[in-house]
Amino acid sequence: MSRSWPTTLLASLFLFSQIISSIAQVPVENTFKFVNEGELGPFVVEYGADYRVLNIFANPFQLCFYNTTPNAWTLALRMGTVRSESLMRWVWEANRGNPVKENATLTFGTDGNLVLANADDRIAWQTNTANKGVTGFKLLPNGNIVLHDSKGKFVWQSFNHPTDTLLVGQSLSLSGPNKLVSRASVKKNVNGPYSLVVQPKLFAIYNRTKLAVELAWFDLGNSTLESVKLNSGNQRLKLDYRLAKSTKRSSHVMAFTKYNTTLTYLRLEIDGNLKAYTFNDGDLDSPRWRVTYSMN
Ligand SMILES: *[C@@H]1O[C@H](CO)[C@@H](O)[C@H](O)[C@H]1NC(C)=O
Ligand SMILES: *[C@@H]1O[C@H](CO)[C@@H](O)[C@H](O)[C@H]1NC(C)=O
Ligand SMILES: *[C@@H]1O[C@H](CO)[C@@H](O)[C@H](O)[C@H]1NC(C)=O
Ligand SMILES: *[C@@H]1O[C@H](CO)[C@@H](O)[C@H](O)[C@H]1NC(C)=O
Repeated sequence: MSRSWPTTLLASLFLFSQIISSIAQVPVENTFKFVNEGELGPFVVEYGADYRVLNIFANPFQLCFYNTTPNAWTLALRMGTVRSESLMRWVWEANRGNPVKENATLTFGTDGNLVLANADDRIAWQTNTANKGVTGFKLLPNGNIVLHDSKGKFVWQSFNHPTDTLLVGQSLSLSGPNKLVSRASVKKNVNGPYSLVVQPKLFAIYNRTKLAVELAWFDLGNSTLESVKLNSGNQRLKLDYRLAKSTKRSSHVMAFTKYNTTLTYLRLEIDGNLKAYTFNDGDLDSPRWRVTYSMN
């Protein structure tokens, strides 16, 4: 009897390790490692940055490393196309305020973690998704970078980690990321003073801790705000919103436009303005980018 304990313990440890090792992994052929080295891209991009493209793209989005000050690189998603011969813009980034250096690596391993590390292995940023059932990586056509499990469910998505920009389909919510934070300056990629914040009774822009602009766009009634989501629509650019204890979505129309707003981003700008930019991927004779909303 006294001997059966360790045996049971061993048996259950064995079982446990079997269960752990049966947690889905990323097939080796879907893993990757990119090194931040080599030639710089030749085209004009936002902030006058230097950049290197990674072989991860979904038109008009491409993952890149960029820098605005030497040897301080940000992993970011670029929006725009080379053939459009117009400025390409940075609409999502991983490591604001914590840049990496030359020869840094972006690694997606069999354990399902996506890791940005310096050449000396110091980790600058990661998704913290090791051994959480991730089996694949995808950059979706809407600009969402996702790590999914074997059923296609998102274990991690870049849409849940905004900095100063929302793409169409991306949300801010009380329970999730609840704000955008402006960039300090064109050169300095650290947090600036402005934030756009979702609060129960308020959707507003702050200048540091001071309320700067209240955006009274939603009919809250007696309820409270739960989430907002950028949405495109039939010749409209909208901010959908949901109230607490309600499944119903309502919409505030930010702009009526004659353009297709599917490829739009909303940004809290360096100067605290809120602006939407729409990319036109069709008619080559008309402007590629249009400002479809500007608060000021
Ligand atoms: C980056 O790595 C390459 C190859 O190992 C090396 O030749 C180069 O000196 C490294 N660059 C820097 C800035 O460390
Ligand atoms: C934000 O506050 C600073 C002072 O802290 C002020 O100089 C600046 O003009 C304010 N920004 C706006 C957009 O009002
Ligand atoms: C808000 O609450 C007050 C007091 O409880 C109630 O009289 C009113 O009808 C409510 N309004 C709405 C829009 O639900
Ligand atoms: C709007 O643009 C998107 C992305 O380019 C495209 O997939 C969609 O078909 C367009 N919709 C219309 C109505 O043209």
